[in-house]
Amino acid sequence: MSQELWTAVDDYLVENLVPSDDALDAALRASDEAKLRAIQVAPNQGKLLAILAQSIGARSILEIGTLGGYSTIWLARALPPDGKLITLEIDPKHAAVAEKNIAYAGLSEVIDIRLGRALETLPKIAEEGHTFDLVFIDADKASTTEYFQWALKLTRPGSLIIVDNIVRSGAVSDPNSTDDNVQGIQRFMASVKDEMRVSITGLQTVGSKGYDGFVIALVRGD
Ligand code: SAH
Ligand code: DHB
Ligand code: MG
Repeated sequence: MSQELWTAVDDYLVENLVPSDDALDAALRASDEAKLRAIQVAPNQGKLLAILAQSIGARSILEIGTLGGYSTIWLARALPPDGKLITLEIDPKHAAVAEKNIAYAGLSEVIDIRLGRALETLPKIAEEGHTFDLVFIDADKASTTEYFQWALKLTRPGSLIIVDNIVRSGAVSDPNSTDDNVQGIQRFMASVKDEMRVSITGLQTVGSKGYDGFVIALVRGD
């Protein structure tokens, strides 16, 4: 089993199940032209995010980590006409690319890009009194523990919290890993081990983005 095969199967699935789309294709092209790292979710993963948002009838979404706005567009499109999405980005260059991509997708009224360190913008969002039906955590992995705690503060029973990149080619199960990203995910895992406020699971994935995975947590109401 190889990356080549995972990519071929992802291409096959996307060709059959995820129709290509001008705004999403343009967002990928513009991100590439601006030399952003191509670490956005794969098309079939973007569609999974949208399906999850639609299946809970999400009206408000928070994303931590915008990049060129590719996952942002997938998520925003899952919202009803009066829905809102706030996305947090530290890098002004990324935010500028995302802003253009979002405008081209016709979603500027729906999506609010907040520039800054997420750990600084999150308290402000809390002060503004927002509550989110879905939170997608996909920024610097070292701060995942803190982002998840913020997500718990900013959600309600029935909300979903999704955390990307929790497997990192399998490195997450290596207790001797010295990688900051891996250690960030390991610290997050330890922090949610006895977290009673969520029903939570984790899945490994392979595909065009390699071998990785995600956590999905449902905020409990009982
Ligand atoms: N969600 C995007 C990919 C995000 S990549 C998609 O799938 O399309 C991670 C992004 O998080 C990068 O753009 C990076 O600049 C941003 N980031 C990293 N550290 C951050 C921080 N402390 N606060 C906010 N954003 C951060
Ligand atoms: C990286 C970050 C991501 O959000 C992702 O989906 C894949 C890789 C990274 O920083 O390497
Ligand atoms: Mg990611």
